[in-house]
Amino acid sequence: MINEDYILDDNEEMNERLIELISKIPVKDLIRNAIAHRRLSYCPYSNFSVGAALLLDNGKIVSGCNIENAAFGPTICAERTAIYKAVSEGYRSFKAIAIVGSPAGDLINQYAFPCGVCRQVMMEFCNPEEFLVIVAKSPKDYKVYALCELLPNGFGPGNLED
Ligand code: THU
Repeated sequence: MINEDYILDDNEEMNERLIELISKIPVKDLIRNAIAHRRLSYCPYSNFSVGAALLLDNGKIVSGCNIENAAFGPTICAERTAIYKAVSEGYRSFKAIAIVGSPAGDLINQYAFPCGVCRQVMMEFCNPEEFLVIVAKSPKDYKVYALCELLPNGFGPGNLED
């Protein structure tokens, strides 16, 4: 795991790989996009608004927000909204996702990490060693993880292959 200014993780090999991967993506644009889409969140029940911006392999950004439901169960997280939007448009190769979340109406005051279900959905479509998860408070204040750090030994499509 890295953040913008300093290295926090004691896994130096992982940090070097993350620094290399993050240098190749428009991380600030991605975070700005997630911040903009947080405003579209529909969260009358939790009052916790989340925005996500998914970077496709082709450079396109697909955004999402959380969308809640009176029956609670149908609620969908911002990350899955973005991933399912992209998949339903024919895209399945992703490089990174930026996430911002905080109580609705508040400035972003925390790093909002993806829930377990969203991590599993990322695992379905992304290489866990390469896909970057960026949790941000602002375009200058963020942390970066490879998916394999957030979902160690994850179960994925590869497990079902002969
Ligand atoms: N939420 C997300 O959008 N992403 C996450 O990874 C965690 C939770 C949403 C779901 C729900 O609308 C609200 O935050 C509170 O759980």
